[in-house]
Parts: sequence; C-alpha cells; structure tokens
Amino acid sequence: MAKKITKICCIGAGYVGGPTMAVIAQKCPDITVTVVDLNQARIDAWNDPDVENIPIYEPGLSDVVGEARGRNLFFSTDVDKAIDEAEVIFISVNTPTKTYGSGKGMAADLKYIELCARQIARVAKTDKIVVEKSTLPVRTAEAVKNILQNTGNGVNYQILSNPEFLAEGTAVEDLHAPDRVLIGGDTTPEGQEALQSLVDVYARWVPRERILTTNLWSSELSKLTANAFLAQRVSSINALSELCERTGADVSEVARSIGTDSRIGPKFLKSSVGFGGSCFQKDILNLVYIARSYGLKEVADYWEQVIIMNDHQKRRFANNIVKTLYNTVSGKKIAFLGWAFKKDTNDTRESAAIYVADDLLHEQAGIAVYDPKVPAEQVYSDLDYLETRNSEKNKQYVTVFEDPYEACKDAHAIAVLTEWDQFKDYDWKRIYDGMKKPAFIFDGRHLLNEAALTEIGFKVYTIGKEAVK
Ligand code: UDX
Ligand code: UDX
Ligand code: ADP
Repeated sequence: MAKKITKICCIGAGYVGGPTMAVIAQKCPDITVTVVDLNQARIDAWNDPDVENIPIYEPGLSDVVGEARGRNLFFSTDVDKAIDEAEVIFISVNTPTKTYGSGKGMAADLKYIELCARQIARVAKTDKIVVEKSTLPVRTAEAVKNILQNTGNGVNYQILSNPEFLAEGTAVEDLHAPDRVLIGGDTTPEGQEALQSLVDVYARWVPRERILTTNLWSSELSKLTANAFLAQRVSSINALSELCERTGADVSEVARSIGTDSRIGPKFLKSSVGFGGSCFQKDILNLVYIARSYGLKEVADYWEQVIIMNDHQKRRFANNIVKTLYNTVSGKKIAFLGWAFKKDTNDTRESAAIYVADDLLHEQAGIAVYDPKVPAEQVYSDLDYLETRNSEKNKQYVTVFEDPYEACKDAHAIAVLTEWDQFKDYDWKRIYDGMKKPAFIFDGRHLLNEAALTEIGFKVYTIGKEAVK
C-alpha cells in the first residue's frame, strides 16, 4: 500500500507552483499544502487579505485561493519548517537559461534547483518524496538524487518527475481538467511506491486513465519534447505566413484547411508576431544544448531552426512597421496594444512585444504601451533587462498608459501585440479620429476585424495576409 500523503510543501510560489498547489489544496481538503518562497513580497501578496491582490493574474485563480487559503493552503517564507513537516516536497523554482559561463544562452541554470536540494538535505529528518515540478533538462533528477543521497543522516529520499503542462491564462482550467498528468519515478519497489502515493493525490480529481506513469528520464524528456513540438507548430505556421504575404494566400485559410486533417489537428496553428513565455524558448534551447552535448549536430540544428524562425518573425513585424511608415519611425508615436506574451496573464517573460519595441526604439520611435494587466514598472524592467540602452533612454522613449484611448491618441500607428479580448470591442472610430493620418494598424494576432477597420479608414496589416495597398 502506498503511503497516504497528508502534508505537501512546494518550494517556489511562482506561475507554476502557486496555481498548481492552490488546485491540489482545493481538491484535497485533508492535505495541508504549504507554498514557500524566498521572496517575501511575493508571499505577502499571496497572503493579501484581498484575494484579488494575489501576485499572479489567472482567470479563476483568486476563487480557488479564496476557497482553500487558511483552510489547508498556506503561503510562507519559512522554507525550513515547511520542508521539515512535509512528506512530499515539490520543487517549483525558476530554471532560466544560463547567462554566464559554459552553456551561456543555451543551457538551463540549475543553481536554484541545486540550492533547494541542498536545503532539503540539510533540514530533512524524516523520509521525503521530492518531486521535480520545474521544467528541467533530462537527468536533473540524478543530480538532485546525488545531493540528497549523500547526506549520511539516514533519511531516505525518492525522486519523482512530475512536469506541469498547464498553459498560462488557462492555468486553473488546465489543472482542473488536464489532458494528462505525467509522473516519472524509479523502477525500484520504493520508487514505484512513491509514484503511487502521488498518483493517489491526483486521482482525487483526474480520471485514472489520464495519469501516465513512466521512468524518470522519459518523464523529463517528455516535457521538453511537448514544448518543442508546440513551439514548432507556431514557427511552422509563421514561416508560411511570410510566404502568404508575398503570394496573396491567407494564412488563416491555410491553417483552417490543414487543421481539419485529423493527423494535424486544428490547435496551435495561429500565426502571430512570435511565441513568447517562459517555457518555449528556454526548453528548446535546452534541447538543442543537450543534443549538441551528445554530438548530435543535425538534431540540434533541426530544433534550433524553430527559435531562428521565431526571432525572424518578431524582427520582420518590426521591420514591416518601419517600411510601411515610409521607412522612418523616428519621432513618430507607435501605440502598442498588449505587452504580455499572451492574453489573460500578467506574465511578460520573452514576450514578442519586448523585442518589437526594442527594434523600434533602435529606429528612434516613441512607444506608447497599454496592457490591461501589466504594470509600467514591468515594461521598463523588461526593456532594461535587454541592456540595449540605458534605463533613462527607455523611460524617455516609452510611455505606459492606463487608458488605451490615451495610448492611441495622436499615434501614427497601432501595433497589436497581445490578443486581449477587450481590444476587439474598443470604439475604433473614436481611436481613428484621434490618430495621425494615414492611420495604420499592424495586427500581430489576427484579432481585429479587418473589414470593419478598413471601412472606418484605417490601413490594416494582418500577419499572413497580403498588405493592403
Ligand atoms: C501522404 C499524405 O498523408 C497524403 O495526405 C497525401 O495526399 C499524399 O502524401 P502517403 O505518402 O501515401 O500520403 O502516405 P503517408 O501515410 O502520409 O506516409 C508517408 C511516409 O511517412 C511513409 O513512408 C510512412 O511510412 C512515413 N511515416 C508516416 C512515418 O515514418 N511515421 C509516421 O508517423 C507517419
Ligand atoms: C506552454 C505550454 O502550452 C504548456 O503546456 C507548458 O506547460 C508551458 O508552456 P504557455 O507558454 O503558458 O504554455 O502558453 P501557450 O499557450 O503555449 O503559448 C505560448 C506562446 O505561443 C504565446 O506567446 C502564444 O501567443 C504563442 N502561440 C500559441 C501562437 O503564437 N500561436 C498559437 O497558435 C499558439
Ligand atoms: P515558474 O514560472 O517556473 O513558476 P517563477 O519565476 O514564476 O517561475 O517562480 C519561481 C519562484 O521560485 C520565484 O518566486 C523564486 O523566488 C522562487 N525561488 C527560487 N529559488 C528558491 C529557493 N531556493 N527557495 C525558495 N524559493 C525559491
């Protein structure tokens, strides 16, 4: 019989750890779930008496947190205490691409994971199941295992890999009804018992046939592969979008036609200004790095092309704005609708908007940003992080607005970078009247009604469609 879990700890209260643990707590009222983080401000926000102020915006998340918080869901900075008390410890800390040393720009930086493993090794007095939740390169479990199994204090550890497949913006939905839950563990009897304990937790709300179990390495590689395949679909359709623009075909028609082939399927075929988010680029770079490190040049080159195409798509979008505005945007005002990497999230990591803005700033454009959920500080910090120019310059040329109509007023062009639903319902006539003429719209998300906007007088460019002359 697998041991019944009563206490869970999760290290890392971010976009993955926060929502995942909130849903586990909601679905398992008899399990105490404690989410810990070093970041005091983040934990304070999770504990804010007004549940609408939690640090992550996800539709439906505040209700879940409101239901479980204080009952069996707790947020704390006391990492040691939570580790000590838990039977299961999820590691859900960030694993950014390395910015220094060997593997710079490609490999995952595992220092946060290693710190967690060392902290667990130092604190734990009773046997623990340690679960990798963050996306990690294959064989990370082995490193974690090595650290934990060499403490010599008699504590036994089982390491499981349980990658999270939720997408931001639909996290709660995805957690409530996942396509599958994947759990990898050692094939030893002890490994299988630990694996079963975790299966029993998810089985409280996920149908058994959707809970897949496998070995550690396959589980780790599956996560990288899933993200690589998804990103590849976006790059594939984006590659075709450029061809469509030259030839007069419409990429959304092409996507519709191929999507009806059940072998291809209709999802994830939306051409865009480029994929963003914390996972796709990082995971593919990781895959490329792993392949190269095994000397698999063709494999590495194949997947790297997905990133090259994505970078090209972002740059192409910015270049097209410059070209269309008579080859200069210097001193012109370009309004950005959206800064987040997709709708229904306040996350901006790797958002295409950042790179498009950076390119236009090179051309001395003034940029006016409006995003319903991203605060001004985040926009500036994203641009400063690129270190392309100093922070004063970014502040000088970029203004963040709280009102979309103000952002668009006197603009020479509008660029739609995120597919927020509300953009569709704006009073576009009012926006048109306030703009410089000709008034251009560059729709990077296939979001707006091109015919209606053209009727008002806008000159509209939609990705993957021949530009309106
Ligand atoms: C293909 C298209 O499927 C069809 O829609 C189009 O009209 C003509 O081209 P076909 O070439 O007859 O059809 O066979 P298909 O089943 O697509 O297989 C093509 C090749 O891919 C075969 O060599 C097959 O063995 C291989 N294949 C297919 C794989 O190696 N792995 C797979 O998962 C699927
Ligand atoms: C992704 C995976 O979907 C999820 O399973 C994994 O756990 C984490 O990484 P996420 O990055 O949150 O999730 O969002 P996703 O919906 O996958 O979108 C990623 C990026 O691709 C976004 O910038 C989105 O706008 C873009 N995208 C997606 C497209 O441009 N076109 C599409 O058709 C789909
Ligand atoms: P993800 O999208 O993977 O959830 P985030 O960056 O949103 O990534 O969240 C990761 C969280 O992990 C951050 O809030 C960070 O402060 C926290 N973290 C990183 N290292 C540690 C550590 N050693 N102990 C506790 N928390 C940590």
